[in-house]
Amino acid sequence: MQNTINDSDDASPQLEGGMRNGLTSYGDAAFSLFLRKAFIKGAGYTDTALDRPIVGIVNTASAYNPCHGNVPALIDAVSRGVMLGGGLPMPFPTISVHESFAYPTSMYLRNLMSMDTEEMIRAQPMDAVVLIGGCDKTVPAQLMGAASANVPAIQLVTGSMLTGSHRGERVGACTDCRRFWGRYRADEIDADEIASVNDKLVASVGTCSVMGTASTMALVSEALGIMLPGGATPPAATADRIRIAEETGATAVRLATSRLTPREILTADAFENAMRVLMAIGGSTNAIIHLTAIAGRVGIAVDLTELDRMGRETPVLVDLKPSGRFYMEDLHKAGGFAALLRELAPLLHLQALTVTGRTLGEELDRAPPPFAQDVVRPSGNPIHPQGGIAVLRGNLASNHAIIKQSAADPALMEHEGRAVVFENVDDLVARIDSDDLDVEPNDILVLKQIGPVGAPGMPEAGYLPIPRKLARRGVKDMLRISDGRMSGTAAGTIVLHVSPEAAAGGTLALVRSGDRIRLSVRNRELSLLVPEQELAQRAHAKCSTHPGTARGYRKLFLQSVTQAEHGVDFDFLRAEEITATVPRPR
Ligand code: FES
Repeated sequence: MQNTINDSDDASPQLEGGMRNGLTSYGDAAFSLFLRKAFIKGAGYTDTALDRPIVGIVNTASAYNPCHGNVPALIDAVSRGVMLGGGLPMPFPTISVHESFAYPTSMYLRNLMSMDTEEMIRAQPMDAVVLIGGCDKTVPAQLMGAASANVPAIQLVTGSMLTGSHRGERVGACTDCRRFWGRYRADEIDADEIASVNDKLVASVGTCSVMGTASTMALVSEALGIMLPGGATPPAATADRIRIAEETGATAVRLATSRLTPREILTADAFENAMRVLMAIGGSTNAIIHLTAIAGRVGIAVDLTELDRMGRETPVLVDLKPSGRFYMEDLHKAGGFAALLRELAPLLHLQALTVTGRTLGEELDRAPPPFAQDVVRPSGNPIHPQGGIAVLRGNLASNHAIIKQSAADPALMEHEGRAVVFENVDDLVARIDSDDLDVEPNDILVLKQIGPVGAPGMPEAGYLPIPRKLARRGVKDMLRISDGRMSGTAAGTIVLHVSPEAAAGGTLALVRSGDRIRLSVRNRELSLLVPEQELAQRAHAKCSTHPGTARGYRKLFLQSVTQAEHGVDFDFLRAEEITATVPRPR
């Protein structure tokens, strides 16, 4: 066995790659490499193995994250692909964030995970990295971190969970979670049935089975070109998912040698493709925030007015819940992303580069031929003629707010009503189910203090429950407004991301119960119908709502978090210079 430690080339500063990457600083590069090899050999590695290109594999397995429950199997398959490609796989851990196991909210931890990902990619020797994510915040965090680190990277997702069956009815997380909980609140089903359906909603490991944020970010990643073609839709428990993992490992070795970096893939064209796909899939509103944050890492800003224009000219073609009927496994069986790409091709930048080294258009040419299916509609027969998300402005949202119109009640899209205001989540919890709550079906529920700073972390509390007294009368939807987010799996007439948020001095902080509010999705308007002079008096009388002192990560978060239109990223993590704005005017 050849020992290369004493080879003078090993200490040469000109030589890079593999174990020589990012040597620990002892003031003696040759000694640093000597020491590094000595330690890794303690794990039984040979020089032959250590001379290979190194592919880091981000391990986000956690007992707290069932959406990542197949990560160990994926690491095995990625490692096999890396070995087959001639590289050396090196799995390493980062933090893992699950939606239901993160207090106060997973979004609070997304930026922390992005920092962990970026710094561990930078700190450890690797020529390329495979990012294994899946649950809502993990893929955005990994792409944000990888974009900043700019080491060749490829995204692999864990894949969607399987659907279950409750008394003969097909169910999946988490649109059906909310639907059944709504029925339970309305006394339509009893405690036994809600306990029974709790066993059936999540039928396997993997990510939510509808077009929630995880599914959206998987498809958006494939549209960005940072994931293998066909990588978005295979469910977690399938052989297709394992095969994609193996191919991802082999591709990572090619990335390690070609040195194709994330910033060469994450271009303005790529982000426009991703936004187009987001609109066409009726995707999660959260993806706007995540795409803005990822783009911000590479110096690309998002113009929400142009995004709205893009939405007006992009039909919704994918028939998945919550906007439509099907689940992710159905989209996979219907041909996956390629089926959508074919319909959207005239609206996409097909020359955009992907991790394979080929363009999106070249990958489409290589995709399996189309066949008859009813999950992805032809562009001439869309589910909705316009994209799923509209951008609103007005004195209640001077920066912006958004509404997922594809999941809203058409009868409420042009609506004026009386505000019923909740000052914060605690106030909501205390009063929403009270029989004394003064509320009628045409009223507008307003929730404050759930923005990036106010909560903090912009939780998914924007899906306010229908007050119990109205739910019992059969009311299924009301106009609801907040500075927070909602799960991509939720549906309803819900205005989100109101910016500036209440805690940052937005007009939202001044709304009082009884005020009148007007929503016009047609005119993209969100207005508080209170005279300016009255609002000025209310602002003058209002005390600061800043949450005050904090320590540790919370202090960093409160000092540095940006508003929704900047991706809720930390200001010091965004690129120093903006070099492009997307979508570009057509
Ligand atoms: Fe993980 Fe829905 S909770 S994807």
